Amino acid sequence: MKITIVGTGYVGLVTGATFAEIGHHVLCVDNNADKIRQLNDLEIPIYEDGLEELVVRNFNNGRLKFSTSIKEGTKFAEVIFIAVGTPPGYRGEANMSYVEKVGREVANNMSSYRLLVEKSTVIVRTSEQLAGTMSKYLKSDIPFEIASNPEFLREGAAIHDAFNPDRIVVGVESEKAAKLLREVYEPIISRSGCEYLEMNIASAELTKHACNSFLAMKISFINAVSRICELTGANIDQVAHGMGLDKRIGPSFLKAGVGYGGSCFPKDVDAFVRMSIEHGYNLDLIKEVQRINIDQREHLMRKLQKELWVVEEKTIAVIGLAFKPGTDDIREAPALYFVPELLSRQAILRLWDPVATNNFRRTYPNLNYCDSIIDCATGADAMLVLTDWPEIQGLDLAQLKTVMKCPIVIDGRNVFSPAQMKRHGFIYDSIGRPTVKN
Ligand SMILES: NC(=O)c1ccc[n+]([C@@H]2O[C@H](COP(=O)([O-])OP(=O)(O)OC[C@H]3O[C@@H](n4cnc5c(N)ncnc54)[C@H](O)[C@@H]3O)[C@@H](O)[C@H]2O)c1
Repeated sequence: MKITIVGTGYVGLVTGATFAEIGHHVLCVDNNADKIRQLNDLEIPIYEDGLEELVVRNFNNGRLKFSTSIKEGTKFAEVIFIAVGTPPGYRGEANMSYVEKVGREVANNMSSYRLLVEKSTVIVRTSEQLAGTMSKYLKSDIPFEIASNPEFLREGAAIHDAFNPDRIVVGVESEKAAKLLREVYEPIISRSGCEYLEMNIASAELTKHACNSFLAMKISFINAVSRICELTGANIDQVAHGMGLDKRIGPSFLKAGVGYGGSCFPKDVDAFVRMSIEHGYNLDLIKEVQRINIDQREHLMRKLQKELWVVEEKTIAVIGLAFKPGTDDIREAPALYFVPELLSRQAILRLWDPVATNNFRRTYPNLNYCDSIIDCATGADAMLVLTDWPEIQGLDLAQLKTVMKCPIVIDGRNVFSPAQMKRHGFIYDSIGRPTVKN
């Protein structure tokens, strides 16, 4: 089958490479000429485990192509996936201008039936707006349809998720659209045995925002409980373990920490709240999720401040710049809150991340980026853990203590255990667990 994907970012590139791998012929379109040049030179613009191999193989066998031309993309295939960004707008609402532009451009260039599939995360009833725009910009009475196919992949495990989704959700309102999308996904369904859910378009659009808001709510819930643990002497690890074994709750997304970030949760939760108000329902429940999330990082900053007393002139080793391990994505990463905050307090920063340093450097070109955690911690008055990279687990704690000026570790991801840090003589504060004084 021929498929066009418009928007070749984290979602578009992973989807394009996956579709090519299962046998489709895919044209990935992006209006960022530099990105398309890189891809045509087989340079992969993002870090995602296993992606490079898929892109190279399918580019070389001719099933995966890249272009800057929406005209070419519109001509290439009957099914066109929209995977452009939907970043936050001025008031926190989802900015739909990129999606709208793709609609206009496809309408301008099409000469026979096209199915436009919303893979970008959009607010409910976007399909109606998109259809309205397409009708206005079509040169003649050419048939088209809109479908919704929200994406649930997790950055850091995106290739695995693309081949082994928990489920595939499609919103379709005609047999023709349903048949086309079943044909797209048939190889993944038969390979993975996943559930394939067909529903109306509004339900599919809403499912995505409801999922992300629910997961964010789980994170804020456990973070709120972690605060009660700190006040009462309970231990969040034990509480979360006890909760997670309840099959009705489940263990995932019950890890207390500095709060959620990334390119999806903050903006999607915000968009969900705004959208619900527009439709006449006040989602105060989710507003509280947002408040707890912001408070959590401020809480971690207060812990650092408390141990240092004065932050000015102190050297802080910041461990982790990506919003989570396994990705170089720094959008809404906790580091983007802590770094400016610490700089404004005249701290001296040393930064480490295994893959996100280049992205961070674009915003902060003149900071001190280090090649290893030990190098980063050398001479530091305190270490601040913001991303739970597996490399941290393998650290030689005796060596870490020796290289630091003061053995203070403030752990926003609970990567160490208080007992282990006590044994090694650190002053250690984490989330929802006893503080180690030594
Ligand atoms: N990143 C994730 O983990 C994830 C997961 C699920 C859903 N989503 C959703 O998928 C969508 C895309 O997210 P992303 O992280 O891939 O974004 P991204 O910013 O990495 O990629 C978007 C791409 O679209 C391109 N683009 C913008 N306008 C264009 C146009 N008119 N024509 C052609 N290309 C255009 C940009 O140049 C960019 O390369 C968003 O709605 C996001 O919420 C993301």
